[in-house]
Amino acid sequence: MPIETVRTPGTLRARIAGWRAEGLTVGLVPTMGALHDGHLTLIRRAQEEVDRVCATIFVNPTQFAPSEDFAVYPRDEGRDVALLAGEGTNLLFSPTVETMYGPGHVTRVSLPGLGDELEGAFRPGFFTGVATVVTMLLSQAGADVAVFGEKDYQQLLVIRRLATDLHIPTRIVGAPTLRESDGLALSSRNAYLSKDERSVAPALHRVLSRVALRVRGGAEVGAETEAGKAELVEGGFDKVDYLDVRSADTLAPVSRIETPARVLAAAWLGKTRLIDNVEV
Ligand code: PAF
Repeated sequence: MPIETVRTPGTLRARIAGWRAEGLTVGLVPTMGALHDGHLTLIRRAQEEVDRVCATIFVNPTQFAPSEDFAVYPRDEGRDVALLAGEGTNLLFSPTVETMYGPGHVTRVSLPGLGDELEGAFRPGFFTGVATVVTMLLSQAGADVAVFGEKDYQQLLVIRRLATDLHIPTRIVGAPTLRESDGLALSSRNAYLSKDERSVAPALHRVLSRVALRVRGGAEVGAETEAGKAELVEGGFDKVDYLDVRSADTLAPVSRIETPARVLAAAWLGKTRLIDNVEV
């Protein structure tokens, strides 16, 4: 079935209002395109929850620093549409930058604290860009449910927090990370890896899993995270931005595993920055 693509908030709202008038529930799956199987599992997760699923494709300029890959971020709407249609997605919202950020647009949504650490400390402004665009998308769609991947775990918590704080009634659902058979988390940026880098990349998940296992077993958090960073560099990573164990609910630092926790890391392979996280 071909998939209808709408490009303005007005048409998006009209389509969704039509479904609502028929008594149907609606799910939203925001993406930046360059879709892979990980995204398609988000569509399937939404389909388990609701009657109609709308995907969005928008490469959001405000979440990229000037030094980052906004200009070269992979864009192939035709391919993405075919993949979405293959999953039975009902609608695609794919606006232009000018539509989303019209003349005089200045409003930003920021989350002091949660948005400033880990990813936020290394990518200043990133979560303000994400929170701003996701707030727009949630308000434009007014969906019952929106699905985001746990691969971007801090992003998921940021979105949950903003939905709560701004009284956005859409239920935020997290979907587990999809991995290659060697453990590498699926990511659009994996396409940047050279053959050699790709062979090193699975060490990230291996090391995170090992740290999670050890701290779950009572090992000291600080010692294990330091050992994990060293293992990554020994294993071929060029630089580790962070590797830390945090509360799964708030991302507050933890020194002892008494409540649900998460091991999160970001590390560089050449020019590519990989992030990943696992449950403790
Ligand atoms: O995770 C992403 O693809 C993006 O950060 C999102 C949530 C679509 C916002 O641009």
